[in-house]
Amino acid sequence: MKIVLLGAPGAGKGTQAEVLVKKLFLPHISTGDMFRAAISAGTDLGLEAKSYMDKGQLVPDEVTVGIIKDRISQADCREGFLLDGFPRTLAQAEALDTLLAEMKTSLTAVLNISVPADRLITRLTGRRMCRQCGAIYHLLYNAPQKENVCDVCGGELYQRSDDKEETVRNRLKVYETQTAPLIAYYQEKGLLHEINGDQPINEVMVELGQALGQKWS
Ligand code: AP5
Ligand code: MG
Ligand code: ZN
Repeated sequence: MKIVLLGAPGAGKGTQAEVLVKKLFLPHISTGDMFRAAISAGTDLGLEAKSYMDKGQLVPDEVTVGIIKDRISQADCREGFLLDGFPRTLAQAEALDTLLAEMKTSLTAVLNISVPADRLITRLTGRRMCRQCGAIYHLLYNAPQKENVCDVCGGELYQRSDDKEETVRNRLKVYETQTAPLIAYYQEKGLLHEINGDQPINEVMVELGQALGQKWS
């Protein structure tokens, strides 16, 4: 299966992706995670990406499409993959179509997780991530058992630097203008499934399973 997870910042793409990739045995490809790894490693890509991410803007399409091209042409993606946070502009969606056509394949499904805008700010400002394994928590909605400690690996939790309220507001504006048009793009292609993201995490997972023709609870 070749799946795209669409949704606004904070919609729950990463949270659902963590579980979905285990159930479906797919590589999880998150451009945001790839940029954060490059920033931690101090590479040129990381330096460039950081200058955009800190302002809540998108990293230029050429850069982002380039890293996706390298990643999905690797052997572990031959049978399928889960894209989280890519594409998020029409140009990226068209570039992905071209890449997949060159590989003589196409997308299986696009899952759009929707959450009312007023909920997204609380989700993002209360998010905490594990420094070691990247697991995602929320101070209120998905709290770790021990404050500031990852349940999975014992790592330290931190707040993403782009989760400050001012940057969050900018990310949501960028989503509306540049990414929301992808909903119509994939609807026209008959690939879109609407998922209600405004319900508990495990119920969102059930709806995702139904859209993919999987029975799990
Ligand atoms: P990226 O890391 O992709 O961030 P994003 O798209 O803004 O999305 P988030 O990761 O913030 O949200 P999410 O949907 O994954 O939500 P999560 O599951 O964490 O991108 C960061 C930056 O990188 C971009 O701004 C851009 O600069 C750059 N970038 C990345 N990709 C790019 C591209 N393709 N092109 C150009 N630039 C790119 O959940 C959020 C919170 O809510 C968590 O605390 C979670 O615990 C909680 N939560 C989740 N589900 C629920 C639920 N059902 N109920 C209650 N709480 C929930
Ligand atoms: Mg994410
Ligand atoms: Zn961890």
